[in-house]
Amino acid sequence: MSKLIIKGKQRLGGKVSVQGAKNSALPILAATVLTRGESLIFNCPVLSDVEASVGILRYLGCVISREGATLVINADGICRSDIPDGLMRKMRSSIVFLGAVLARTGSARLSFPGGCEIGPRPIDIHLCALREMGAVIKEKHGYLDCTAPEGLKGCKISLSFPSVGATEDIMLAAVLAHGTTTITNAAREPEISDLADYLNKCGAKIYGAGEGVIVIDGVGSLNGACHTIIPDRIAAATLMSCAAVTGSRIALTDVVGSHLASVIPAFEEAGCTVLCQNGEIDFRAPQRLDSMRIIRTMPYPGFPTDAQAPLMTAACVAKGTTVFIENIFENRYRHTSELVRMGANIRTEGKFAVVEGVEALYGAAVEATDLRGAAALVAAGLCAEQNTEISGVKYLERGYENLELTLSALGADIKKI
Ligand code: EPZ
Repeated sequence: MSKLIIKGKQRLGGKVSVQGAKNSALPILAATVLTRGESLIFNCPVLSDVEASVGILRYLGCVISREGATLVINADGICRSDIPDGLMRKMRSSIVFLGAVLARTGSARLSFPGGCEIGPRPIDIHLCALREMGAVIKEKHGYLDCTAPEGLKGCKISLSFPSVGATEDIMLAAVLAHGTTTITNAAREPEISDLADYLNKCGAKIYGAGEGVIVIDGVGSLNGACHTIIPDRIAAATLMSCAAVTGSRIALTDVVGSHLASVIPAFEEAGCTVLCQNGEIDFRAPQRLDSMRIIRTMPYPGFPTDAQAPLMTAACVAKGTTVFIENIFENRYRHTSELVRMGANIRTEGKFAVVEGVEALYGAAVEATDLRGAAALVAAGLCAEQNTEISGVKYLERGYENLELTLSALGADIKKI
């Protein structure tokens, strides 16, 4: 089990490129199941969650090769419609394969993705929508047995919550369905638009992605296409938090400022200056941060739940109090106990976390228990007195591409052992 050792209080500086978006790559890899011929996916980050998706695609019969940041995928040879438990459990978001496999093969058998570190992660919205499209889904012994006896048909679907995964699953089931599907109360995240862009390049007819209503006209078939994954807005927010807590000035390239429209004001409230232009962000932090007052996580374009943990570390060392309200997931404060071990002053009560800023954190041995919580601990190690030892690095590797190398390039004293 690898660990990270961080010697804190190193000022950061310099320019780094932001990785491709994990939460865009995963649904787009699932979408290749629907295509004939070859797709080239550029700017695809090297992450364990991406490798888990590649493993599922290969199991289904796809031929995939990686050339640097490019994945070359051919789904002509798909010969299976089941995903074994071992592959499903590697990554909770494998559920997004359900719609794609069902649409491609007419059946799908996969195990319940189950909960994860941040909450029970139900899939009722996914299943309800697919059933409305004509899928017959039996849930037994922890498995989902799905068939579409008369094929999938387009219909009007209204989501009870703008679920990202459910919106993606429905899009993947609808692009080859008979007729038109309308999704109201759809998720509006940039990753939804990126998935639609790829599918439309393959010949799909998707309108309105990124808005609350998405219309999909089913087509007969899809051909592989070339596509570049959008930058990872959460990785960008994480790097800004690392700079914020160390009083640093950094530049981020290959980033879309508009995707961070709800995150940047939080840093500005804390006294940082953030200049976005031509795909670059010039980020400067003050010597000591001010509090960010209130941060409430919401569906996009609200403040992203994935940035809650990384930015909480900034609140920990700010002047004053910041209140976090986590409205998306039930159990997304597991990092707070580890931050408290490093001297943070945090009280949590249900969806609320009250953070009283302290002068400084001190190094300690801490344990990551989920992806974004791990990022929060890395940021804490960068600004803590003495050394911090972080275990549970496997969580970090699910969503951050070589984060320790990126931070080293910016001047951090961080090593993986
Ligand atoms: C996606 O998860 C992201 N993962 C998450 O990022 C992100 O936090 C989340 O969207 C919200 O933005 C990927 O894209 C791979 P949801 P997803 O369905 O699709 C409830 C990260 O750190 N819900 O929008 O699972 C659910 O319990 C990860 O990169 C139902 O009740 O999120 C949650 O409370 C973590 N029934 C809320 O909706 C359902 O059928 C939002 O979930 C589906 C969801």
